[in-house]
Amino acid sequence: MKAEILRELRTSGDFVSGQDLCDRFGVSRTAVWKVIRQLEADGYDIEAVTNKGYKLLSYPDILSSAELMSRINTQWAGRKVYFKPEMESTNEYAKYLAEEGKDHGSLVVTNAQTAGKGRRGRQWISPPGEAVSMSLILRPEFSPDRASMLTLVMALSVADTISQLHPELKVSIKWPNDVLVNEHKVCGILTEMDAEPDYIHDVIVGVGINVNQKEFPEELSDIATSLRIEKGEHIDRAGLIIGTMEYFEYYYGIYAEHLDFSCFVQNYDGYLVNRGREVRVLDPKGEYTGTAEGVNDRGELIVNLPDGSARTVSSGEVSVRGIYGYV
Ligand code: BTN
Repeated sequence: MKAEILRELRTSGDFVSGQDLCDRFGVSRTAVWKVIRQLEADGYDIEAVTNKGYKLLSYPDILSSAELMSRINTQWAGRKVYFKPEMESTNEYAKYLAEEGKDHGSLVVTNAQTAGKGRRGRQWISPPGEAVSMSLILRPEFSPDRASMLTLVMALSVADTISQLHPELKVSIKWPNDVLVNEHKVCGILTEMDAEPDYIHDVIVGVGINVNQKEFPEELSDIATSLRIEKGEHIDRAGLIIGTMEYFEYYYGIYAEHLDFSCFVQNYDGYLVNRGREVRVLDPKGEYTGTAEGVNDRGELIVNLPDGSARTVSSGEVSVRGIYGYV
């Protein structure tokens, strides 16, 4: 009921009478009052006036199930939120919940990760209250070889969300799935799958967004940034989560229908920071350089080589760098 009352207060934007809330949810005035007290304890600023009711005065940057569920308008992506203030890793908790049988679209969110995981076994730092750390549980009905492109679909969803909410920021994607602002990384995505050769049990798509960090450790400062640093103001994390779920749900529907990346190529290439630039392909079979052209309908990067031939690079095998550094 907390999420529903919060939704009522938020959508009304004005006073909502206690009696209306009682009638609507079939509960007593005391029950409504208790929820209002809980919301205040969570940090919401609510004005209570006799004979008028309750009015939400401000929208603090709070992450909780109630906050997210009071704002989300999707059909399935993020409709069920599993929130805890602290977790080791949202991907690990999502894996546990997936094994417990939680639904397609269930979203795990935390305010702080103590053992966040990056790609290639790296560590991912998500300081308390400053980042978005979330993992979406998916149960695709397609074959496992189609799942890797979901990472690119998520990168596009995050890029579109940041662009829509903060149009003044220069958003790009470093193939395959780093989202950048001003050519510095603001988001990483870690997709993990539990599958048999021809059947997917579940896919966990983990998303980490640097939102309100004011600074980064020296070794990361050339590569990473946060939305706050780039925009110069505090950013609402719940809005980013909700926007990403809305875009992802829409794009997932398209992807599940076509099972290739063709519908997204134009949008994705529009963000591609490597496009038209020289890149170094760190292939375990031998490094090479070339000019990145864009992605194909399998989400692979097309790299034109100096001899006029082209190679396609798939994300599982290799990583791609700019020839002078990260991009
Ligand atoms: C990368 O190395 O770029 C991927 C980083 C992915 C980090 C996110 S944060 C939420 C989710 N839980 C994790 O432990 N990792 C992912």
